[in-house]
Amino acid sequence: MQSTNEVRAKFLSYFGSQGHAVVESSPLVPRNDPTLLFASAGMVQFKNLFTGTEKRDYVRATTAQKCLRAGGKHNDLENVGYTARHHTFFEMLGNFSFGDYFKERAIELAWNTVTREFGLDAKRLLVTVYHDDDEAHGLWKKIAGLSDDRIIRIATSDNFWSAGDTGPCGPCSEIFFDHGDKVWGGPPGSADQDGDRFIEIWNLVFMQFEQQGDGTRLPLPRPSIDTGMGLERVTAVLQGKHDNYDIDLMRALIEASAHAANSDPDGPHKISHRVIADHLRASCFLMADGVLPSNEGRGYVLRRIMRRAMRHAHMIGCRDPHLWRLVPALQKQMGDHYPELNRASALMTETLKLEETRFKAMLERGLKLLEDETHKLGEGQALAGDVAFTLYDTFGFPLDLTQDVLRGQGRTVDTLGFEASMQAQRAKARAAWSGSGEAATDKLWFELRDAHGATDFLGYSTDSAEAQVLAIIAEGAPVQTAAQGSSVAVIVNQTPFYGESGGQQGDQGVIETPAGVRVRISDTQKRVGDLWVHLGTVDAGSLSVGDGVTLTVAAERRAQLRANHSATHLLHEALRRRLGDHVTQKGSLVAAERLRFDISHPKPLSAEEVQDVEREVNARIRLNTDVNTRLMTPDDAVAEGALALFGEKYGDEVRVVTMGADSVRFSVELCGGTHVRRTGDIGAFKIVGEKRGCGGCPPDRGDYGSSRARSSRPARSDLGGGSREFENHGDRASGPRCRLGRRAAALGAGTVGSA
Ligand code: ALA
Repeated sequence: MQSTNEVRAKFLSYFGSQGHAVVESSPLVPRNDPTLLFASAGMVQFKNLFTGTEKRDYVRATTAQKCLRAGGKHNDLENVGYTARHHTFFEMLGNFSFGDYFKERAIELAWNTVTREFGLDAKRLLVTVYHDDDEAHGLWKKIAGLSDDRIIRIATSDNFWSAGDTGPCGPCSEIFFDHGDKVWGGPPGSADQDGDRFIEIWNLVFMQFEQQGDGTRLPLPRPSIDTGMGLERVTAVLQGKHDNYDIDLMRALIEASAHAANSDPDGPHKISHRVIADHLRASCFLMADGVLPSNEGRGYVLRRIMRRAMRHAHMIGCRDPHLWRLVPALQKQMGDHYPELNRASALMTETLKLEETRFKAMLERGLKLLEDETHKLGEGQALAGDVAFTLYDTFGFPLDLTQDVLRGQGRTVDTLGFEASMQAQRAKARAAWSGSGEAATDKLWFELRDAHGATDFLGYSTDSAEAQVLAIIAEGAPVQTAAQGSSVAVIVNQTPFYGESGGQQGDQGVIETPAGVRVRISDTQKRVGDLWVHLGTVDAGSLSVGDGVTLTVAAERRAQLRANHSATHLLHEALRRRLGDHVTQKGSLVAAERLRFDISHPKPLSAEEVQDVEREVNARIRLNTDVNTRLMTPDDAVAEGALALFGEKYGDEVRVVTMGADSVRFSVELCGGTHVRRTGDIGAFKIVGEKRGCGGCPPDRGDYGSSRARSSRPARSDLGGGSREFENHGDRASGPRCRLGRRAAALGAGTVGSA
């Protein structure tokens, strides 16, 4: 039997031997396609190669692409567990030609793969072609020797493939495997085609056009090839199975779940184990690619997947959190090919444990409420929207979880009523928002936030991403287009730009379109909590709402910000170790060229203390240990020794940044900022001044800031020669009264990534 891992390896190595670059899967969160929540096909990472806007040093490629179909346009979530072939996460094998070979070679390669490499019996294969694609019809005849009755013409969109409403597309040809007459079903195009006898295993797309927004189609510069074969499906065929959940990989996860829960994998909880196996993969791969559970956007899709699995763990009877126990089984199955699963081990484990612990506390009470409410309903009557909303708002039940529970009883939810309750709550939140005090602009930001949702921040893992322009504000009001020379605030759906918070200044950079529009961004701010506002000037062309843009952060400046932010953590800990635990952070400024760190301490530091602190920070830099980020509850984080800002209100979950090796952790802080990967990336650290009070208030007891020596940086450091300023706010002095100090403290609240 060929294992799933062997099937993947065989596919990649075959196409590698046929002159294809073996390219790694792109992350689940597409960097180059703002219209997609998640990668849903192998071609997503190559979209711009098909249209010719991007060139790489290869014209043929092959991949095993991580895909997710949950949330957004492609959503299979509700079917998972109940059918033989639906997944949220799956792998798509594919070969691609970017203007190199076309139909003939694509068909030849596909036929060789299935019959020779995989050894499938040609007599059990048949294909479809688009109804007017005589060329493909003829080629299947010539290359595979298929008779006319096994080349089926299909006139529907099933045989014309496109990734979305716009972009590359073309007619396609699908290969089907016949499981034999013991299984009910008819060939594609027949009345019984939905049966399980004939299963599609591979889709070959002959990319020929680019679909435009206005409905027209332009020919691509050069015809290309995009293919997609579900790894789980083809493995099922090769392993003689009819159900994807019976292949070795999925079976190992199902058995791990059953074993950990002391339950029978094929007993009454069979469906639950399948759901858990699928959702475990989706959850872990999402986290390994930087998505963490939250109440917005991608993070909320992850939360919905996790909670659906966690409810199933509850149904099996698991009293303790269950999913985190299965992480090693997943790593064993998939960690060799996807090393990110091993790198993110602690993050995945702790986030799963945290999410399930918190959700468990509410689940039972929520289910009780649901039971009480459904008892009151007549047969088949839908659950009222406001009850579903209470379950969502108070008990953390995503709507689809409530729907999943009711599905077994043949009930639905009044979704319009649910939406009305949601709107009413938004209106209340808006009325209660104290905000910046600038009521007029807050109103505008709230309206934009309501209309477009939160901005998805991608900047922990990338400096550049594509996005869609959702709104442009010029002279205080939304506009459709901003001409060259205008000062603008730009809102997009996702961004790599860090919005000023936690003392770290907002990013600078550029927003550009392929047509040459260019907006220089001089600052990025966050408004009404999670709306990112890019402030800048249109340097060239006119920017319009709806434009597809590339956002590029000024990378050198961001690297310096990262270095300075990480240095504040080391400085904080070094000060505490040298001066005592009473030292707490009162605020900070993390700029590109320097940092300022405000603390409470009753007297100025001696020259010796300054030197010791500086030496300690530099020693920690030279140890070059990992900088790790995890997501935890504030309580757990503080129990682990994380430094939190006293009196700050934190969300339910916080990002925890740790520096130093696991056994000898040096610094643990709650922080939403961007950080270096290893402490060595900071370069060098120099204290250039100490001030009592702050820059914004009169130095009532003298200014201790003195020498402003420039740091001498290691020659190989890629950072510029920035110096770091350290300021000390005496407790008795003006700390609480000073403007800058207060501002910094208030910004400190933003360091917490409340999810
Ligand atoms: N992009 C094609 C698909 O997803 C191959 O089916």
